[in-house]
Amino acid sequence: MADTSTATAASVPLAPRALPLLGHALPLLRDPLAFIMSLSGYREMVRVRLGPSTAVMICDPALTRQVFLNDRVFDKGGPIYDRIREVIGDGLSTCAYPLHRRQRRLCQPSFHPSRLAGYGAVFARAAELKTGTWRDGDVLDITQEMMTLTTRGTMETIFSGALPAETMRQALADTATIVSAFFRRMMTPALLRRLPTRQKRRYDRARDRLAATISEIIAERRADPTDHADLLSTLVAAVDEESQDGEKQLNDAELADEALTFFLGGMETTAITLAWALHLLATNPDVQHRLQAETDTVLNGEKLDPAHLPSLGLATRVVTEALRLYPPAWMMTRVLREDAELGGVRLKGGSTIVLSPYLLHRRPDLYAEPDRFDPDRWLGAQPDRATYIPFGAGARKCIGDQFALSEAILALTAIVARWEVSPVGDEPFRPKVETSLSSRGLSLRLGERRTGGDAGLRAAVPRPGSVQPPVQPPVPRSFQPSTQPGVTACPVTHQE
Ligand code: HEM
Repeated sequence: MADTSTATAASVPLAPRALPLLGHALPLLRDPLAFIMSLSGYREMVRVRLGPSTAVMICDPALTRQVFLNDRVFDKGGPIYDRIREVIGDGLSTCAYPLHRRQRRLCQPSFHPSRLAGYGAVFARAAELKTGTWRDGDVLDITQEMMTLTTRGTMETIFSGALPAETMRQALADTATIVSAFFRRMMTPALLRRLPTRQKRRYDRARDRLAATISEIIAERRADPTDHADLLSTLVAAVDEESQDGEKQLNDAELADEALTFFLGGMETTAITLAWALHLLATNPDVQHRLQAETDTVLNGEKLDPAHLPSLGLATRVVTEALRLYPPAWMMTRVLREDAELGGVRLKGGSTIVLSPYLLHRRPDLYAEPDRFDPDRWLGAQPDRATYIPFGAGARKCIGDQFALSEAILALTAIVARWEVSPVGDEPFRPKVETSLSSRGLSLRLGERRTGGDAGLRAAVPRPGSVQPPVQPPVPRSFQPSTQPGVTACPVTHQE
């Protein structure tokens, strides 16, 4: 990159109230979201100190995009990725730039539009099964419920339904152990992380057992390579003609890393998105009732199916807005592979960069009334590639974005078709800031919707067969389904 600038990182303002030795550790630990938002006034960049190390936080959408699009220089790295790498090795989401393109080409076919309809059907079924276990009046830990739903759905889409019940149960338990330990491990200094505490032993056992289960499944697949119509089948069969001999396919260790990457990367983020969407509906009953009316009209007595996706306009906007307000990946980090210039400032190789979808999504100059839940802000509007980044951007953009969106929209539809959600108590619920922007601890009350008896709810619902589904407002372009019926689009490409 040409270096035409003279300003150095030292010229970037330091965020206020840094303490000697601790830097900004206290406000970051006490209320990270308030701290991040207090930096939005900086517009371009600001320096943040964590103990002895300093990171440059990017506050501007154009600069954020520059970082995303130049992953050769602004590579994946930093404490979040170091901890994730402990579990999923050098899988697609954690590998450094030199390993990335081959892996992306080998993984991309697993997310081809022709595969997504099958995955969507699995999710619709998983959501119907889950909601079928609920009872009228239940007060549920909704994040936990969504985790079981998405874990089961993700397991089945990756490994098809062939897992024995006990293996599935153990894998679900191990996943829960790993996910709950992630953030704690990220925040614990290296020396303490190595201490053989009971928690560490539990974590190591869960990680090793899950990896062993996945390796066994891979060995079985190698022995029987017929297409099981699941994600693993496409990974096993993928060939990269651009790679040299011996590297054209994923080896067993790589397959295990990728399968685990998809599994862990997909299930928590989608569960949280669903939990936040339900929280927003519970606190905005007018939107919930409109969504129920849309669901009833579109389904019109039919079984939920990915073919309904193009008609679920409001459900799509609710998920889009939930991802704006509560982006699960609220913060991402990059590490410079070499000296580079950004926004007229010369940054040294090895510097850490922090990007935050949460900050951009809530900037008042980018979104009117940014803290307000307003799914209709997306009516006829396309999410802007620079200011709306729940899935990141560029070559490292989420490979599962379309997969996750279809899953979330279908699951949300299955839930509101049958259930009304309402808040428990009057206290506003605040996110738990972890590796993800978590909804952990969120409880919601369920009421079963009744046909006929509930005039308020059912007023907008036509009698079966009497009315055609309304023409829906356009779904944002980056989420638009393809024209093939029942197949959702996968617009992820190596470069945008
Ligand atoms: C609502 C759900 C999801 C959200 C919000 C989300 C968010 C993200 C974000 C922000 C990134 C980019 C991280 C960065 O640049 O540092 C990413 C990457 C990734 N995501 Fe997702 N994700 C979701 C669902 C999924 C699903 C369902 C899968 C797979 C089944 C998945 C697999 C991946 C992978 C493999 C990458 C790395 C891509 C690469 O580096 O080439 N994600 N995700």
